[in-house]
Amino acid sequence: MSFELPQSNVMEKEKPNQHSKIDKVVAIMSGKGGVGKSSVTALMAIALRNQGFKVGILDADITGPSIPKIFGLDGRRSEYSQKGIKPIETKRGIKVISINVLLEDEEAPVIWRAPLVTQTIKQFFTEVAWEELDYLLIDLPPGTGDVPLTIMQSIPLDGIVVVSSPQDLVRLIVKKSINMSNKMNIPVLGLVENMSYFRCPDNGKKYDIFGEGKVEKAANEMGLNLLGKLPIDPEFVKLSDSGNIEDYPYKNAEFDAIFGDRIVEVIGGLE
Ligand SMILES: Nc1ncnc2c1ncn2[C@@H]1O[C@H](COP(=O)(O)OP(=O)(O)O)[C@@H](O)[C@H]1O
Ligand SMILES: [Mg+2]
Repeated sequence: MSFELPQSNVMEKEKPNQHSKIDKVVAIMSGKGGVGKSSVTALMAIALRNQGFKVGILDADITGPSIPKIFGLDGRRSEYSQKGIKPIETKRGIKVISINVLLEDEEAPVIWRAPLVTQTIKQFFTEVAWEELDYLLIDLPPGTGDVPLTIMQSIPLDGIVVVSSPQDLVRLIVKKSINMSNKMNIPVLGLVENMSYFRCPDNGKKYDIFGEGKVEKAANEMGLNLLGKLPIDPEFVKLSDSGNIEDYPYKNAEFDAIFGDRIVEVIGGLE
């Protein structure tokens, strides 16, 4: 006798509200937390925004929301209008919705069971006045559990970007994420290797702290795009901790070359 996994059930896809028109929806996924999924979501949004696209971020990480903080939006509260819940705009005009801009006390833990979490995320898609967007980026909760699964089933995603750090049990975890996307019939647009290396500011030398090229190898094996390798950069931490992540591309000359251009090429060219 062999063990048969139950087949996934197909769900009806949600639609944004009548006042919103969202062209492309891309979810950012990772095998586990702490690999820089939210950071990469933010950097992708910034790269697209810098090209003049209208961009929104839906922070679907309900128990660990970090998008408002890195954009310096903590303390802000979204308001309601006749068109729905109003997203908060960042300095450079990226629209953001997150549980943290809706809760009265942003330090209160969200202790909800999965159905309530997924219901809330669906409402972020359907009841927020996104208005016109070229790209909505969804920062998914880490892993391949119930919540990312429901989102993949119920929100019309055009693609998924998988973020990994090099020391992740890369093949295993990345492959799990990719197999999940394949099962859901959602194209994987590519992989991002975050915390890929460290360039010493004193001698300019590059150190592969977690070993070299593991994500690249996994990408090659699976026939996927490697969208970029982002270095471990103390300047990045400083800017995101102080809510100024949007300044990063201007402080790091390498950024557009290693990441921004490539993201815009692949995501910005989605048909
Ligand atoms: N390339 C990087 N260089 C330095 N620090 C980073 C980098 N990417 C992420 N970080 C830091 O690592 C921590 C986790 O990143 P985050 O994006 O919140 O991960 P996740 O969303 O996957 O949990 C944050 O403090 C962030 O500032
Ligand atoms: Mg996060």
